[in-house]
Amino acid sequence: MSFDTTETTKNEIRHFISSDTLDIADRSKIFEKAGEFKSAILARHPIDSGLNTIDPMISFFEEASTRTRFSFEFAALRLGFTVATTEAGKVFSSRVKGESIEDTARTLNGLVPSAVIARTENEGDAEKAARYLSVPLLNGGDGKGEHPTQSELDMFTIQEIFTTLGGLKIVVGGDLANGRTVRSLVRAMSRYPDNKFLFVSPKELGMREDIKSELDIAGVKYEETDNMMEALPWGDVTYWCRLQAERIKERKEKLEMIERQKLFAIGKDQVRAMPKHSILLHPMPRVTPGFIDNQGDELSSELLPEVDNDPRARYFDQSANGQPVRMGIVDWALGPIYGPEGEFPRA
Ligand code: NCD
Repeated sequence: MSFDTTETTKNEIRHFISSDTLDIADRSKIFEKAGEFKSAILARHPIDSGLNTIDPMISFFEEASTRTRFSFEFAALRLGFTVATTEAGKVFSSRVKGESIEDTARTLNGLVPSAVIARTENEGDAEKAARYLSVPLLNGGDGKGEHPTQSELDMFTIQEIFTTLGGLKIVVGGDLANGRTVRSLVRAMSRYPDNKFLFVSPKELGMREDIKSELDIAGVKYEETDNMMEALPWGDVTYWCRLQAERIKERKEKLEMIERQKLFAIGKDQVRAMPKHSILLHPMPRVTPGFIDNQGDELSSELLPEVDNDPRARYFDQSANGQPVRMGIVDWALGPIYGPEGEFPRA
């Protein structure tokens, strides 16, 4: 059940830091495996990954998480690995004492884990940590940077429903400046032929230049708008995300953005404007209406529960795909070193 290993892949460590790591062929193998894992989980069949599971996995999370951490850890456990975890690494690990991410990575590497799943607070820290690991670093989100395993499960969901990842019109809306899931998704989906993007956000929260210039260079079509109602009828896929209020350091700016974001909420009227065949995705969590954050500010909801029963609303299916897809990613990452042909990582 494990990936073929070749001379080159035997010697490379399969870190998964950015969604452009995987080529189309790797992704389809991972999705095939993820599909098998999903059926096995749902049928409650035992899973034999063929991986040598002698070395425990480390799950190191500096930021809050429900879906990513549990689904990754469940993925590891179902594949037979034991997992050691810290769910508040910025509070309970030595990072709080001023340790660098590099030193943390070196320390974790010394434990001889099979892989390190990491969610880091700062953009770029996944890559910094990976430099000091002789086993794969699986990026569970690095600040405002990327969230590549999320985009894999997003794409697995899109493929399940449309049976293709190309030729799609994709509306991507919400806080595109601070959200990392949308960055990974656009990066990965832009590799498939004939996908077109429409970015919808308040002007201040638009898609950042780095991604837009990648699209320009690749000749991928995209447009930007702050008119949500004009955008929604266009998409085959509408992918929405919340205001990342906790990432806006300046309180005045945060309050302004909360106000602006109120015009970007999806309720029944918005879903009615979407094509019948289309789907609505969201990485979750969404903000519950009336939620007050730890600064005492009331956030506004970007996706109202009133649309949950619409057949286009597929975000809970999407979130459930996290576990089998992450199993596929672990299998891909560890196959060359822990698979039947694998050589254990060299220190
Ligand atoms: C996202 C994240 O952490 O980037 N959540 C997730 O992993 N599913 C989205 C978010 O927090 O808004």
